[in-house]
Amino acid sequence: MPYATITGWGKCLPPATLTNEDLATFIETSDEWIKSRTGISQRHISHVDTSALASIAAKRALAAAGLEGSDLDMIILATASPDTLIPNIASTVQAEVGAKCAAFDINAACSGFLYGVGLATAQIKSGQSQRILVIGAERLTFYLDWSRRDTAVLFGDGAGAVIIEATDKEEGILSYELNNDPSARDILKAGFGTAMDRFDSASLDFYLQFDGQEIFKRAITGMGRLSAKVLDNCGLTKEDVDLVIPHQANERIIDTLVSRMKIDKQKAFVNIANYGNTSAATIPIAICDALEQGRIQPGQKILSCAFGAGLTSAALLIQWGERITPIAVSDAQLPECKETGLELVKRAADYFNAKAQ
Ligand code: ACO
Repeated sequence: MPYATITGWGKCLPPATLTNEDLATFIETSDEWIKSRTGISQRHISHVDTSALASIAAKRALAAAGLEGSDLDMIILATASPDTLIPNIASTVQAEVGAKCAAFDINAACSGFLYGVGLATAQIKSGQSQRILVIGAERLTFYLDWSRRDTAVLFGDGAGAVIIEATDKEEGILSYELNNDPSARDILKAGFGTAMDRFDSASLDFYLQFDGQEIFKRAITGMGRLSAKVLDNCGLTKEDVDLVIPHQANERIIDTLVSRMKIDKQKAFVNIANYGNTSAATIPIAICDALEQGRIQPGQKILSCAFGAGLTSAALLIQWGERITPIAVSDAQLPECKETGLELVKRAADYFNAKAQ
């Protein structure tokens, strides 16, 4: 049976950023509160659709693997904020990269990318596919209620992608676990104009149900349980783990997770300060950053885990291959952005603040 290994990676962060100080100009919050409670300093705000972010990340991942779009057998795009529900936005990426293959979106919220990697691994191990592009891409800031300080401070936009290829070498995704707990689906719930009553304009509004403390607790339990399981599946222990790449929803969640698992905190990769929670895009962006910073080395064992609305959870254990540098670098770029992060969100902030009066 072949192994499934990561051979390419790419990320796309929109250029405009919104700092904690920017946020404090239109909601009652402070840099001190956000940093101390979450670890976030700034987030990126997109001026383009989710599919545009995804397409750039995909082109960069293809170049890093030394492949063309036409080499792909499948495209899996994880997102909870697609620019269209029908058709899927994987098809936009497919057209952009010139692929002739299966392409579909999945929604497992913040765990979506790891779900996609799990599906791709199974597809490759079954012999059905040789090369799969898995993307996590989000534009959640487009859907936020910017008058709610409990959630507006948490999220950011971005995309990340990997190429997963079949190999005979004993490396790559050694084990994965996916789970969902529907009993807690109401503690994180958002409707983006998905009306209860299609003919009542009030119900067309965005709504958000969010119980941060309950999510916090369940995130640690869910990620901890599945992380232990993937290690166990491989006959490994926490001592074998070289690097942990966890979902970045709150730095305190990451600290508690590794402390409960008795893994050295220095082994946890944390980049939440720059991006906030980019949901499904978080882990592929973190993989790219970890490679750029030299935190991933050949042959290392990497534990990755995530948690999100659903409530979904996922974990995987990767044994990285030999190559930690891209084969080529794509020159794909987003269109220029002429506005600041504050300008991009200001109209939505004014709308929601007027409504909240
Ligand atoms: N600025 C200032 N004060 C704030 C803000 C803010 N942005 N948000 C909340 N507060 C206030 C609250 O009103 C409350 O004030 P009160 O004591 O006067 O009532 C106080 O701060 C404490 O609020 P808590 O909700 O208890 O704060 P907590 O320490 O739990 O942190 C947080 C909230 C950051 C949301 C945390 O619960 C969390 O990280 N939860 C899990 C992450 C999460 O839910 N992410 C969403 C995506 S799901 C996922 O990715 C897994």
